[in-house]
Amino acid sequence: MDAETLRQYLEYYQDLGIKTLYRRGSVANAGEAGHEERWPAPQEPLFRILDDIGDCHRCRLHEQRTKIVFGVGNEQSKLVFVGEGPGADEDAQGIPFVGRAGQLLTQMIEGTAKKEGIPLLRKDVYICNVVKCRPPENRTPQPDEMEMCGQFLSRQLLAIAPKAICALGSTAAKYLTHSKEGVTRMRGNWYKWNDIPVMVTYHPSYLLRAYNVGPKREAWEDLKKVLHFVYD
Ligand code: URA
Repeated sequence: MDAETLRQYLEYYQDLGIKTLYRRGSVANAGEAGHEERWPAPQEPLFRILDDIGDCHRCRLHEQRTKIVFGVGNEQSKLVFVGEGPGADEDAQGIPFVGRAGQLLTQMIEGTAKKEGIPLLRKDVYICNVVKCRPPENRTPQPDEMEMCGQFLSRQLLAIAPKAICALGSTAAKYLTHSKEGVTRMRGNWYKWNDIPVMVTYHPSYLLRAYNVGPKREAWEDLKKVLHFVYD
């Protein structure tokens, strides 16, 4: 387990009020083949995370938000889509990806699944964002905002423990993978968040603006890859 994963686990246990942790097995065994230490996967209900978010004032994004946009979909889903942050429609309704980009995402998920013979609807996956409050004028969330809000995304992902994550666009991709590469280079490739495979693809808002069909075709390929990986 790397230091970042360990930090997230410790933060999680601290949030639960657990101050002392004991390690299973002896120190002498740690790291030896067949003796690798694993922390038990926390089975945290999502409502507890929402409860902890509360009427969040932890960063400046709370100042202009209407609703906190936590996440939507199947809490046991094997696939989680992660976007950047709520837009105007999401801020008004409190649900991620319900505006034009959201409609395109729904079409992409359901259309690709249908073509590939996978019985899957939008409601069967889980959808959320890196930040839960709308950044003013839809600007990119700032690093400190992502750091603050990201703890809740991490807890959501640990709680759902999907088979794969699909990062939508550069912000989610960079946040989850720590890569410095642009999304054009990253898309279509597998990365890891903790031990969970992450497929990177374009953000649907970008696809709505793209003039040629190239990126749309690529996004379709990426989605096919992730759907087959998860549901085959
Ligand atoms: N764009 C995002 O990144 N997330 C949403 O929820 C809506 C638009």
